[in-house]
Amino acid sequence: MPVITCIEDLRRIYERRTPRMFYDYVETGSWTEQTFRENTCDFQDIYLRQRVAVDMSGRTTASTMIGEEVAMPVALAPVGLTGMQCADGEIKAARAAEKFGVPFTLSTMSICSIEDVAAHTSRPFWMQVYTLKDSDFMQRLFDRAREAKCSAAMITVDLQVLGQRHKDLKNGLSAPPKLTAKSVADMMTKVQWGLGMLGTKRRFFGNIVGHAKGVTDPSSLSSWTAEAFDEALDWDRIREFRKMWDGKLIIKGIMDPRDAREALNVGADAIIVSNHGGRQLDGALSAIRALPAILDAVGDKIEVHLDSGIRSGQDVLKALAMGARGTYIGRAFVYGLGAMGEEGVTKALEVIHKELDVSMALCGRQDVKTLDRDILMIPKGFEGDWT
Ligand SMILES: Cc1cc2nc3c(=O)[nH]c(=O)nc-3n(C[C@H](O)[C@H](O)[C@H](O)COP(=O)(O)O)c2cc1C
Repeated sequence: MPVITCIEDLRRIYERRTPRMFYDYVETGSWTEQTFRENTCDFQDIYLRQRVAVDMSGRTTASTMIGEEVAMPVALAPVGLTGMQCADGEIKAARAAEKFGVPFTLSTMSICSIEDVAAHTSRPFWMQVYTLKDSDFMQRLFDRAREAKCSAAMITVDLQVLGQRHKDLKNGLSAPPKLTAKSVADMMTKVQWGLGMLGTKRRFFGNIVGHAKGVTDPSSLSSWTAEAFDEALDWDRIREFRKMWDGKLIIKGIMDPRDAREALNVGADAIIVSNHGGRQLDGALSAIRALPAILDAVGDKIEVHLDSGIRSGQDVLKALAMGARGTYIGRAFVYGLGAMGEEGVTKALEVIHKELDVSMALCGRQDVKTLDRDILMIPKGFEGDWT
């Protein structure tokens, strides 16, 4: 077993072990991938201020996100098709998160169903909800999340229409995937992945097939997905969803202060500054650059979280010091999952935790809850002075 010291180590193993079609699905942004790239690169423009001879003992990374205790403010983001990266992927990732003491978010487009994940975990997880036209399906999804004791719903608002990812079109990655001789030949070389997939019954969208009207088997999925997303979504429709769910609510995909204020008015408990990991609007600002203006607008009234581009504990430290109350990792945990299953997700969390803890110490701080901008050196104009 190779020595794993960073998230990039996990990505490399993941790339070797996973069919190209599913690796490309993750390691891709929309169109030119500018936003996908800048999400990670822009973290490097922020510097950390080293302090010395400060008591660095008794440190803690424990905090809360929407009132829930977390071992560190780093949750697992919702990632569709996680169960195709590794057999039973959502269950494995949820179990790793539970053992580590951080929240897991299940995607609407997951392979393992809400009920299945609930049956294999004991810590309540968070349910991500896409904004679909079918109100009955939406009501039922919230009801199922409630019955499964999910402790929060997360409505993703940045996917009314789908950004284009060139590789997915070329690879035939659709719902269900269009298999070609080339992709089947590639899959046959990924032995561990293939054995896992042969050994599980969970291979289709568990929250959709058998639940959405007219989707009784995987072959009817593509026509359903083409129709299902609500292009006409507006804040009134989001208010209707708010009425369907009386628990904690997180609104995901906010990149503008005006939208942050709307989310506040809807009665959300938290918002996530996110550009969907650079998979939707190519040319959008990176999430870390968008964060300060949103904090200025609503930071004292609602919990502001951030995702998109986090690949290390230092990135987490920068986001928290800037003012985010919580963060999420998407690709970073998927790399771990595809590389080594549940153990790999645990490894990803351990790597990030250690980087966060030690870097916080080297900035002269002991408590993740009291971080502030004093530990950061942010270049002038970082957030932009746009006309
Ligand atoms: C392969 C993949 C699938 C995703 N699927 C979903 C999804 O089903 N629902 C959702 O709200 N966000 C989805 N996202 C976005 C993530 O929740 C998160 O915003 C993003 O991954 C954060 O960026 P990062 O991967 O750089 O950490 C997906 C991201 C990836 C990479």
